[in-house]
Amino acid sequence: MRRPIFAANWKLHKNRGEAAAYVRELLPRVAGMDGVEIVLAPPFTALDAVATALAGSAVALAAQNVHPAASGAFTGEVAPGMLADLGCRFAIVGHSERRALFGETDAGVASKAAALLAAGLRPIVCIGETLEQRDADQTFDVLRTQLAGSLAGLPRNRARDLVLAYEPVWAIGTGRSATPEMAQEAHAFVRECLVAQFGEAGAEIQIQYGGSVKPENAAALMAQPDIDGALVGGAGLEAESFSKIIHFEAQEGSS
Ligand code: 13P
Repeated sequence: MRRPIFAANWKLHKNRGEAAAYVRELLPRVAGMDGVEIVLAPPFTALDAVATALAGSAVALAAQNVHPAASGAFTGEVAPGMLADLGCRFAIVGHSERRALFGETDAGVASKAAALLAAGLRPIVCIGETLEQRDADQTFDVLRTQLAGSLAGLPRNRARDLVLAYEPVWAIGTGRSATPEMAQEAHAFVRECLVAQFGEAGAEIQIQYGGSVKPENAAALMAQPDIDGALVGGAGLEAESFSKIIHFEAQEGSS
């Protein structure tokens, strides 16, 4: 049985004070929700403040990126062990913004994921097609290639520690979510690829949907059999809307 997993990716938002205030607002709203995993991914500079504010709660901490080396001459980078030391249990790798704006490659994502696993963290590996690729009927080819490259060489016995995030690039920050049916079709395909690579364990890997998830569309997306939670950007910046998504609260006039 896969537990739903909801992560708020704050991207380049919030200083330490804002981050701590968010946590104070979120925790009472999600108290006792044992059936779901809840993850916050603040910027590096707020990780320590969020870790302190989360102390004693089941909400987990994630970084938004990592460098694969354990240490060395890599100015500006942060190692998996440093994240573990701060209390991170997850790190996002291969987000489409990092792929598009910072030249991240599938091979680079795979080495980051392997380094995270080795340090005892769980990678949230992001994949997704652009609008041009979808319009050219290349979605499955793109996902197959990204999965093969981004998960290359990862140990089969650690498959259950992976989280995948399907985030169609055209749905990110646009207000235009994939329909539940489109998302399910992509998730089912991702699941097939995961089972082909990891065997039975592939069926246990949680696959999040990301791209304009909001309280109004969460319930319909989460009702799909292969959607196991959400990676939330904009609506994850407010504790109220993020907690509504976690509660799958279908709003009136939902789309
Ligand atoms: P939005 O929810 O703002 O579309 O962002 C999605 C995302 O990129 C999460 O990683």
